[in-house]
Amino acid sequence: MPFTVDGVVPWGRTMEEYCGMFDLGERDLRGRILGCGDGPASFNAEMTAQGYSVVSVDPLYAFGAEVIEKRVEETYDVILEQLARNRDDFVWTCVPSLPALGQRRMWAMRTFLADFARGIREGRYLDASLPDLPFEDNSFDLALSSHFLFLYSKEFDLDFHVRALEEMLRVAPEARAFPLLQVGGAPSPHVEGVIDTFTAQDIQARIEEVPYEFQRGGRRMLRLRRLIAAQTDG
Ligand SMILES: C[S@@+](CC[C@H](N)C(=O)[O-])C[C@H]1O[C@@H](n2cnc3c(N)ncnc32)[C@H](O)[C@@H]1O
Repeated sequence: MPFTVDGVVPWGRTMEEYCGMFDLGERDLRGRILGCGDGPASFNAEMTAQGYSVVSVDPLYAFGAEVIEKRVEETYDVILEQLARNRDDFVWTCVPSLPALGQRRMWAMRTFLADFARGIREGRYLDASLPDLPFEDNSFDLALSSHFLFLYSKEFDLDFHVRALEEMLRVAPEARAFPLLQVGGAPSPHVEGVIDTFTAQDIQARIEEVPYEFQRGGRRMLRLRRLIAAQTDG
């Protein structure tokens, strides 16, 4: 796995799943959105096709479409086999079955790949990594992390999580992260430390239930808001 931290897999979700995970309403969708660690998700491609504004950053984007496709295909068998072995750790409602999950992930990757070259040209896919984002302050309205922060709590410590979320809050007044569970389904040990750190800095930190659940018990999203933005929003 040359282009990711060991254990962080390129595996992509759809716009519908992002809307569920982050409880995105029309007002959110109409803002400038930054996706951190979007990988081969189809969120950016689908959003762009519908006229919305998304920029995605991921170290995966340093590689060409063929390399990414090969890597996702290699990942596919490993992940589906792991999911089959641990079927009871997941809730099969938003995603009804293992074959449906496989089809959805491959559809997301193909939709991403079909958009990748154009997205690179348009500056919508950028090779960059948390905790350093190549953007001016307040370049976005909302910064998202789906299945990167908290999920890989063994690979990335509390300090990394705080620095990554501080950086997301530098470029956007609000950051959301989902899920708050690790790979394997245990709660992330960093959630409490992150909430304490940001609350002490006058950042509003809230855990919210969202409509999406795939990892059993994983319906919770962290929402962080700079207080000035929160007051302006009402
Ligand atoms: C499991 S995938 C999630 C993809 C997508 N967000 C989704 O939910 O469908 C995790 C992604 O995090 C990316 N990643 C690894 N290290 C990163 C870092 N330091 N900053 C941002 N993304 C990173 C990986 O390359 C990978 O694409």
